[in-house]
Amino acid sequence: MEKMTLRVNGAAHEVEADPATPLIYILRNRLGLMGAKLGCGLEQCGACAVLADGEKVLSCVRAASEFAGAEIVTPEGLAAHPAGAAVQRAFIEEGAAQCGYCTPGIVTAVAALLARNARPDEAAIRAALHDHLCRCGSHSRVLRAVRRLAQGEAADAR
Ligand code: FES
Ligand code: FES
Repeated sequence: MEKMTLRVNGAAHEVEADPATPLIYILRNRLGLMGAKLGCGLEQCGACAVLADGEKVLSCVRAASEFAGAEIVTPEGLAAHPAGAAVQRAFIEEGAAQCGYCTPGIVTAVAALLARNARPDEAAIRAALHDHLCRCGSHSRVLRAVRRLAQGEAADAR
C-alpha cells in the first residue's frame, strides 16, 4: 500500500492503495465518481475515458500512481471544462445515446478533441472516436452531435 495524492475535478484527494491499482477503481470505489464506466477493462472499448492534463486517457489498465500530479477530469467535472458543457448539450439535443454506457467516455473524447481543435474535420472526428465502441448503435447520432459542434457550437459556447 502506498499513499498518493490525486487531483480530480479540481480537488486534491489523498488515497492509500496498491500503486498498481488501475485509476478507474480509485475513481469509482474510493472517490465515488461513477461517471467513467468499466467496460472491457482491457483498453478496448473507451467507456473508462477521463482527461489527464487535458488529454483523453483510458483509466481501466494504467495505474492510478501514474497520474499523481496530473489534473484529472472525470465525466462529473466536464461541465466546467472549456468544451464540456457544449458537448453535453449537443448530445442531449441529438439524443446521442441509448443505454448510455459508452456515452461518458465518448463525451470526454469529444471534449478533448474540441479543446485542441475547435473545427475538426470528418477525419479528425472519426480518429477521436476510433477507440470508442457503442453496443447500442448510437454512432450516427453521435456523429451528428459532433458535426454540429464542429460547425461552431462548442466554440461559441466558450
Ligand atoms: S473499460 Fe477501459 S477501454 Fe474498456
Ligand atoms: S448507448 Fe449503449 S453502449 Fe452506447
